[in-house]
Amino acid sequence: MHGTAAPALPIEQGVNLRTLNAFGLPAQAQTLVRIDSDATLRRVIDHPELGRAPKFVLGGGSNVVFTRDPQAVVLKIEVGGRRLVQELPDAWIVEVGAGENWHDMVAWTLAQGWPGLENLALIPGSVGAAPVQNIGAYGVELKERFESLDAVDLVTGRTVTLGLDACHFGYRDSVFKHSLAGKSVITRVRLRLPRPWRAVLGYLELTRKVHETGVTDPDPKTIFEWVCAIRSAKLPDPATVGNVGSFFKNPVVSAEQCRDIIGRDPEIVHYPLPDGSVKLAAGWLIDACGWKGKSIGRAGVYEKQALVLVNRGGASGAEVITLARAIQESVYGRFGIRLEPEPVVV
Ligand code: EPU
Repeated sequence: MHGTAAPALPIEQGVNLRTLNAFGLPAQAQTLVRIDSDATLRRVIDHPELGRAPKFVLGGGSNVVFTRDPQAVVLKIEVGGRRLVQELPDAWIVEVGAGENWHDMVAWTLAQGWPGLENLALIPGSVGAAPVQNIGAYGVELKERFESLDAVDLVTGRTVTLGLDACHFGYRDSVFKHSLAGKSVITRVRLRLPRPWRAVLGYLELTRKVHETGVTDPDPKTIFEWVCAIRSAKLPDPATVGNVGSFFKNPVVSAEQCRDIIGRDPEIVHYPLPDGSVKLAAGWLIDACGWKGKSIGRAGVYEKQALVLVNRGGASGAEVITLARAIQESVYGRFGIRLEPEPVVV
C-alpha cells in the first residue's frame, strides 16, 4: 500500500500487568495491544502474526487471577464513549463503550437523570466485563437493565449485535463464559433503564437502611449512597487492598441437600429459588469453617467478609490459588459442597 497505510498498530512488549489487575498480582504480557475501537481490533485480527495468535481479553482486571504470565496476546479493552441513544416512553437506552469504568458510568447516568443502576454502584471493573458475568448486587442483575451489546468476532472481525436472549444470562453467567468464550470481544453495551423508575429495596441490607433512616421512599441518589456505604463497609477497595470481590459463587443445591445441611447446621444462610433449589451463602460456609482473617503466605481471607480473598501485600497468584483450594477442601469436608471460583484463573 502506498500513502494510505494506517498508522502502525500500537503493539507494546513486556508490559507489567501488576497495576492492570485488581488483585495486584505479578504478571507480564509478552505482547499487549490497547483496543480503542472495533477498527483497531480488526487491525489486530488482520495482522500477519497477531491475527493467528491466541488472545486474552483484559478489561478492568477485576475478575482475573494471574498465576503466570499470559502466553496469549493481551487485548486491553479501552473503547470509550457514553451517550443516550433513545428516550422511549418506557425506558432510557444508554450506550457505553466497553472500556468505560462501570461505577463512573453508574454515577454519570444518575447525574444525567436516568436512574436504574443505583443498586449496582461501586462494582469494580469495566462496562465490557459486566455482561460476561452478569454482574449483580442488592437485588438487581445486569440482565434486568440490559438492551443489547456489540461484540467483534475474533476470527472474522465482524461486529455483531446481541440482544438479551442471545446472551443467555444466568447467575454470574452468560454465553461469553461458554460458547463465545475467547471467540468474541464486547466493545459496546446498551443499557435499558425502565421508566417510570422504581426503587428496588428488597435486599435485607437496604430494607435495614429504610428502617434505620426512616426514609421510606428514597430517591435513586439516596439508594446509590446507601449501596456505596454498605459496600464500603464490608468490601475492600481494590485501590488499597488487592482483591476481585467475591472469590466464589454462591452454590446452588437441591432442596433435599439443603434440608440435610440445615439439619446439621440450622444457622446456615440460604435463599430458596423459584425452581425449588436453594442458594447458599458461600461467605457463611467459609466463615463457618473458621477462615475469616486467616492467611496462607501473603494471600488472606478478608476480615469483614469471608467470600473475599485479599492480597496482603506482594502475594503471588500461586498463593491465592493455594488459599482458595484449602478453603474449597475445608468447605467440602464439612458441608459436602464444592465451591466454584468466580474469577478467571490464568
Ligand atoms: N456471611 C457470613 N460471613 C461472611 C460473609 C457472609 O456469615 O464472612 C453471611 C452474611 O451475613 C449474609 C450472607 O452470608 O447473611 C450473604 O452475604 P452478603 O449479603 O454479603 O452477600 P454475598 O452472598 O456475600 C453477594 C454477591 C456480591 C453482592 C452481594 C449483594 C456473589 C458471589 N456475591 O454476596 O457480589 O455484592 O451479594 O448483592 O453472588 C461480587 O460478585 O464480587 C460481589 C461482591
